[in-house]
Amino acid sequence: MKVKVVDHPLIRHKLTIMRETETGSKDFREMLDEIAMLMTYEITRDLKLEEVPVTTPVTKCTGYRLAAGSITVVPILRAGLGMVNGVQKLIPTAKVGHIGLYRDPKTLMPVEYYCKLPSDLNAETIVVDPMLATGGSSAAAITLLKQKGLKKIRLMCLVAAPEGVEVVNKEHPDVEIFTAALDESLNEHGYIVPGLGDAGDRIFGTK
Ligand code: PRP
Ligand code: URA
Repeated sequence: MKVKVVDHPLIRHKLTIMRETETGSKDFREMLDEIAMLMTYEITRDLKLEEVPVTTPVTKCTGYRLAAGSITVVPILRAGLGMVNGVQKLIPTAKVGHIGLYRDPKTLMPVEYYCKLPSDLNAETIVVDPMLATGGSSAAAITLLKQKGLKKIRLMCLVAAPEGVEVVNKEHPDVEIFTAALDESLNEHGYIVPGLGDAGDRIFGTK
């Protein structure tokens, strides 16, 4: 299994609050936003920089800025929306594409209902979705992005099941997966155990 668990103590602390049944939508959203920001810091360590001349109040020196080329964040609707703001707090120039997928409750297969992406096909793309369960939704979203011509793709989630990691590894061996936690398994309804329940419902207060 190829997956990087980003388990900084702050992330583990905040994720524990999110898992708790008693945590309401407001706190759930806030924690998700903060974790997305902390994870963005960790998963972008390899972004390329270019040297730039800078004049400080004291002297001239060499500084660095992100190399030309854009960064695109692609939330898988709905729950992925809860991670966009966290990414954009650190990378305000990131463009946002949207992929609408829902998991059919009977078959657990992803059903696509929306896709709108920025035009830069060379962009570094970060797909965000808090839950990687069977892996069907993330794998389908990545397939769609590749069909549209995007090549540099990484996946950032919050809680992953081993089953989902294996599916994405198998279908997209080139895509790095980052998660805040790798949980035990899936239950008979395709929910992650111990997980945190239905992320979309907890973010938006539905159900
Ligand atoms: C959830 C979650 C993922 C998907 C994960 O979305 O946000 O997209 O399930 O499951 P999978 O790995 O088995 O495909 P859901 O289908 O509940 O839609 P929602 O975000 O609109 O609630
Ligand atoms: N989708 C969720 O929101 N939670 C799970 O545990 C699995 C899929």
